Amino acid sequence: MKIMVVGGGGREHAIVKKIKENKAVTEIFALPGNGGIAQDATCVNIGAKDIEGIVKFATENKIDYAIVAPDDPLVLGAVDALEEKGIPCFGPRANAAIIEGSKVFSKNLMKKYNIPTAEYEVFTDMEAALSYLETAPIPTVIKADGLALGKGVIIAQTREEAVDAVKSMMQDKVFGKSGDQIVIEEFLTGPEVSVLAFTDGKSIVPMVSSMDHKRAGDNDTGLNTGGMGTIAPNPYYTDPIAWVCMEQIFIPTVQAMNKEGRTFKGCLYFGLMLTEKGPKVIEYNCRFGDPETQVVLPLLETDLLTVMQAVSDERLGDIEVKFKDGAACCVIMASGGYPTEYKKGFPVSIPADIADSVYVAGTALADGKQVTSGGRVLGVTATADTLENAIKAAYEKTAKCSFEGAFYRHDIGARALAAKKEN
Ligand code: AMP
Ligand code: GLY
Repeated sequence: MKIMVVGGGGREHAIVKKIKENKAVTEIFALPGNGGIAQDATCVNIGAKDIEGIVKFATENKIDYAIVAPDDPLVLGAVDALEEKGIPCFGPRANAAIIEGSKVFSKNLMKKYNIPTAEYEVFTDMEAALSYLETAPIPTVIKADGLALGKGVIIAQTREEAVDAVKSMMQDKVFGKSGDQIVIEEFLTGPEVSVLAFTDGKSIVPMVSSMDHKRAGDNDTGLNTGGMGTIAPNPYYTDPIAWVCMEQIFIPTVQAMNKEGRTFKGCLYFGLMLTEKGPKVIEYNCRFGDPETQVVLPLLETDLLTVMQAVSDERLGDIEVKFKDGAACCVIMASGGYPTEYKKGFPVSIPADIADSVYVAGTALADGKQVTSGGRVLGVTATADTLENAIKAAYEKTAKCSFEGAFYRHDIGARALAAKKEN
């Protein structure tokens, strides 16, 4: 089978490595892939947002199955366009990807179907938003409606910060059209959990839970990033909480999308906050999370391609999806300066004996050797019998990888370990 994976980050590398385990797979193409993915697949220089280019490549190369991993192509309708040409795909169509593509859509969906989430108001008019802020409870959370490279959420600790956020989105248009509408919502507190789930619109199968670490610095200091590391499973996500989420959030979301005529097929990502009043949805993503995928897929025991095909064929309920016992930890090595300014082009060293567990997020090839090409460069991962051992092993491997200016957090999983000890 010829497989095409759209995307080029650490998540896509983890998907490619897992797909390779299936004996029926003869060739994997990554569009555009990266310097690390090139060790495991054939990279093709077609961007993930170039829907026409993706479809042309897939038809010309007789791709048997396509996996569309990032948010942009999904929201832009890559799956619709590929399916039109008869190419089976993993990923939602555009009318379902809107669950991530529009925060106004997802908030209204949750309200309509009674799915627990933060209280909110939607604004299309800046003056109305500003006058609402005069009496809104502080801190407050301001969200641009559309995709904004993960930066469209501002937690305002003061009224001034809130006003600035609204003006930057609605007046200065820092996120372009994504800021035409905004959501202002209640600030929630509690541990955060990421749950990725396979769904074909009929069944939903949650994967092992995970925990992201979004801030750049140790002890959750510094700027927000795309994610500096993950662990799985998330110890806050106990069986009773998982049951509540299934009943109050997961099944109702799948049913709500069906009722709206927007059946979701693919990986549905639930960003949850475990508040004192129960689990609430912070965000939906229409895809595998990054870097959550880098700890979830190594723990998947069932063949990934088999599960994906069951999702596209709407027979997920007929198969068993199993996860291994044990735990995983992924430490992100980033370029000095990330998430703001950083330099590129430094040679990257990954010892051959650990290359299998290093998911490359941002490298390019220069004379056949990997050099840094992005803010997040490597996701160094380990699985083990316990979380403690997985963290230890991931850091031992991280110490063996290097590039100029590399930095990483030293406390990935520390909060999870402390929570485990409390229980
Ligand atoms: P998002 O891009 O929607 O994942 O939001 C980024 C981060 O902002 C989340 O992971 C949360 O830590 C935080 N956040 C978003 N919405 C809220 C909220 N209503 N209350 C508290 N924190 C939030
Ligand atoms: N790790 C969060 C995301 O993929 O959006």
